[in-house]
Amino acid sequence: MEYVEIKNSSASAKIALQGAHIFEFKTRDKDELLWLSGESDFLLGKAIRGGIPLCWPRFGNLDKNMPQHGFAREAIFELVDIKELNENLTEVLFKLKESKESRKIWDYKFELEVKFSISDILEIELKTRNCDSKEFMITQAFHTYFKISNISNISINNLDKKYYLDTLDDKVKVQNREITIEQEVDRVYQGVENDIVLKDLDRTINIKSSGSKSVIVWNPWIEKSASMSGMSSEAYKEFVCIESANAFEDFVTLLPGESTELKVSYSQED
Ligand code: BG6
Repeated sequence: MEYVEIKNSSASAKIALQGAHIFEFKTRDKDELLWLSGESDFLLGKAIRGGIPLCWPRFGNLDKNMPQHGFAREAIFELVDIKELNENLTEVLFKLKESKESRKIWDYKFELEVKFSISDILEIELKTRNCDSKEFMITQAFHTYFKISNISNISINNLDKKYYLDTLDDKVKVQNREITIEQEVDRVYQGVENDIVLKDLDRTINIKSSGSKSVIVWNPWIEKSASMSGMSSEAYKEFVCIESANAFEDFVTLLPGESTELKVSYSQED
């Protein structure tokens, strides 16, 4: 599988052309930011398990004609440009356009641009343009797998009092205080416009998003972890997914010629 390797004075990263999928990101003085499954087999046509899969033009599996989380994470992107802006900052730009295969699943002309800014902060922009003569609707997500010391050590903060759909029983609930995880969790928080903070023993990760109001928090726990592709039964202890998204009612409609941007940045402190 082809990938781009970036190294500058502040950070290093690896990004696969399949899915414009970043699967390693490390700053000079911190551990890997992203979890990557030891069982990821890096096969073309199969999404890498870990890193940041891009879910596009659908998040989830509500659309019968579309693979779960859309088709972009298994499509080959074009590497358009790499810019070394200074010794601490490198930008990498990827592009995807419609193809014969994509039109069979989703019959629209589009342009999808993904820009990574690699420095002590990881920033990603996902820009969708409608190049068709009819409108279309998208849902989307940065499906980020964070590497953690242990699932029992973390808390996810700033979602207090937010409504969420608990997809395990399809009920709408309200978050009370911070999130800690002691069982399977699969939730879609809505109306989120503030930063989210992931606290672990030895670091705190700040998640800043724009262009989205949904946040998915997911950990498969023991049984599901054992039954998922590219994942060991112990994997659930090593990661948590916090996904900046446009999901469910938070979808985006684009008229011909219109575009929309989803952005996220991850910064870390002790
Ligand atoms: C999460 C969903 O975003 O992705 C979960 O909320 C799903 O329901 C998970 O199991 C993993 O999906 P996939 O397609 O990568 O196995």
